[in-house]
Amino acid sequence: MAATLARLFAFLLIVLGTYLWIGYSITELTGGGQRTSAAVDVSPEGGETIYWGKGRCFTCHSVGGQGSAVRGPNHGQFGEKFPLAMGARAEERAKERSEKEGTEFTAVDYLVESLASPGAYVVKGYKNEMAVVYAPPISLSLTEIKAVAAYLMSLGGDLDMEAIDTAPGELTEAFYAKISAAAAAGGGDPGEGAIVYEDNCSECHILNGEGGEIGPELSGIAGKGLKFISEAILQPAKALTKGFETYVAVNQEGRQTIGLKTRDEAGEIDITTATGDVVTLEKADIKEIRIDDTKSVMPDDLSEAMTVKDYQDILSYLMLQKPKPEAQ
Ligand code: HEC
Ligand code: HEC
Repeated sequence: MAATLARLFAFLLIVLGTYLWIGYSITELTGGGQRTSAAVDVSPEGGETIYWGKGRCFTCHSVGGQGSAVRGPNHGQFGEKFPLAMGARAEERAKERSEKEGTEFTAVDYLVESLASPGAYVVKGYKNEMAVVYAPPISLSLTEIKAVAAYLMSLGGDLDMEAIDTAPGELTEAFYAKISAAAAAGGGDPGEGAIVYEDNCSECHILNGEGGEIGPELSGIAGKGLKFISEAILQPAKALTKGFETYVAVNQEGRQTIGLKTRDEAGEIDITTATGDVVTLEKADIKEIRIDDTKSVMPDDLSEAMTVKDYQDILSYLMLQKPKPEAQ
């Protein structure tokens, strides 16, 4: 019991920390408040500062003879193994990919993909252990990621600041959207979040056409905002979704049935319980029926089954579920 409480307390503390962090990063994103001295420009120089500092890239990568880390590929031109520096290498990889897939894929797409989805293309001879640099503990902002891309592009490549900063191509734009959503949600990884969602939530919620029908559909849920979603997970009963109130029915023998009222007709009603079982009750046999607005059919201890990382991942995944534009 004490151990459970301690765990819950630790969890809440970390969640609270995340909120402070989110508040901080939102201030930073909107440019509100004073810019800290650590703020960088989207430029190769800004990126260099991040690379050898906050971004911790140097803990796994070196640039030519600068640095000594070898866990990730060298980003400079270095010996036989690295005949091209990173900018030129990205151009070559992009060309290969465009030819193979018959679609337009640019050097900037390659670099940004390396940062946004490190697992998408794993450099031969290395393990898929590149850090998710926009998630804690590194937590780079989108501006910092753009700066780093500019720095890497300037290493032997044809630097096009417009393609990086103000007018990125479609693919890079989509990666930027993913990074901003993830950063705004406390730096979770939406890819991992999809898996956590599948394991903990899909049995009750429909998302993009799949899942169970006990709770409300979650397609487009990002439109309700981060605060709403996180509260819905941590304290489901705080604001019950309309039409999903919890009913408590007591029959003449005193037996309780708790769940959602999913059918109400002349002589009987259906109560769907949290496990999805549908219990049909004869109205004549019901002694008392009321709404309990202190309880949700959605369990309120889901966070106990999740780690803080799971929670952040799931938030970033749900923040990507944007409402579809209304059909005209
Ligand atoms: C924990 C170690 C680690 C950290 C920290 C790290 N990386 Fe990596 N990185 C790797 C590894 C390992 C690979 C090779 C596997 C792969 O392609 O995912 C890689 C691959 C890359 C590639 C593709 C290289 C190529 O030759 O195509 C780029 C670009 C890159 N990292 C940039 C960065 C930047 C920028 C940072 C800092 C913001 C960074 N990495 C931080 C480990 C790391
Ligand atoms: C046993 C079924 C069940 C499970 C499992 C479940 N939910 Fe729910 N959820 C519900 C029900 C019922 C409601 C409506 C009542 C309420 O608001 O609490 C709901 C409401 C919600 C809402 C508010 C939706 C809106 O539009 O108002 C969100 C967001 C949500 N759930 C997310 C999740 C996530 C994320 C998970 C997994 C971590 C999850 N749920 C797991 C049953 C479930």
